[in-house]
Amino acid sequence: MEILATPTEARAWRHAVRGDVGFVPTMGYLHQGHLALVRRALSENAATAVSIFVNPAQFGPGEDFERYPRDEERDLRLLRECGVDAVYLPTPAVIYPPGYQTYVTVEQVTRMLEGAARPGHFRGVATVVLKLLNTIEPQRAYFGRKDAQQLRVIRRMARDLDLACEIVPCDIVREPDGLAMSSRNVYLTPPEREAAPVIHRALRAAMDQFSAGERDASTLKRAVETIIAGQHLGETEYISLADDDTLEELDGLVQREAVLSIVVRFGATRLLDNIELTPEPARFGQVAD
Ligand code: PAF
Repeated sequence: MEILATPTEARAWRHAVRGDVGFVPTMGYLHQGHLALVRRALSENAATAVSIFVNPAQFGPGEDFERYPRDEERDLRLLRECGVDAVYLPTPAVIYPPGYQTYVTVEQVTRMLEGAARPGHFRGVATVVLKLLNTIEPQRAYFGRKDAQQLRVIRRMARDLDLACEIVPCDIVREPDGLAMSSRNVYLTPPEREAAPVIHRALRAAMDQFSAGERDASTLKRAVETIIAGQHLGETEYISLADDDTLEELDGLVQREAVLSIVVRFGATRLLDNIELTPEPARFGQVAD
């Protein structure tokens, strides 16, 4: 496994690869969710590169940039065991050298939800992802569905800037009790960790109502809210039921693909989760087989 420290080294590696390159950008402290992206990339490409870079530009003042969990040695061991071909490990000075002043702004789809809660966050994400894609030049880049808005922001950027790279969304990987895997789960105290699966239970309750035919957006959101309110450690920051592509909030009936997303705060830790809701096409006149 090659360790690449600069864009020059990363480009030299890329240009020596024969065939498609898959790419998984990460901030390290890898968990099974990351490794699922890596395995998918390995299965679909001739070579796979992973980046590990805790990107200062996507953390706001007072956020957890300094204390974000890091364990480079373990990450490299896991990636080596998976059979990854190269790891790009730039420093902040490599990505943002003195005099750096160019940023990417994706407009509408960054305005709400995480974009409203964390001003500047998606400007940092879009900028670093574009820089990484521009350096690695992969055919495919893999992103988890857990960060629902991030995925849509990157997809929008890729379409708007005519990027050649395909953005591949990958399913959320959960702990056996339903908690979505996240590097930030380590911040939870034992009682918070025990309570946190309530998030998935709440989303499942709404999904069950949706599957049973409920289409009213407020009723579906209320189903989530009621279950979260039934415990006292986690506090709902927002619940959103939005258009799957634009993330514009839906009111009235859910008649097209939608994403139900939630942030629950446990102490200082914000946990994100979501489920996608797909109304079945009308089935009248279909013959059962
Ligand atoms: O999802 C993440 O870990 C980060 O936001 C990403 C995509 C690696 C950009 O820093």
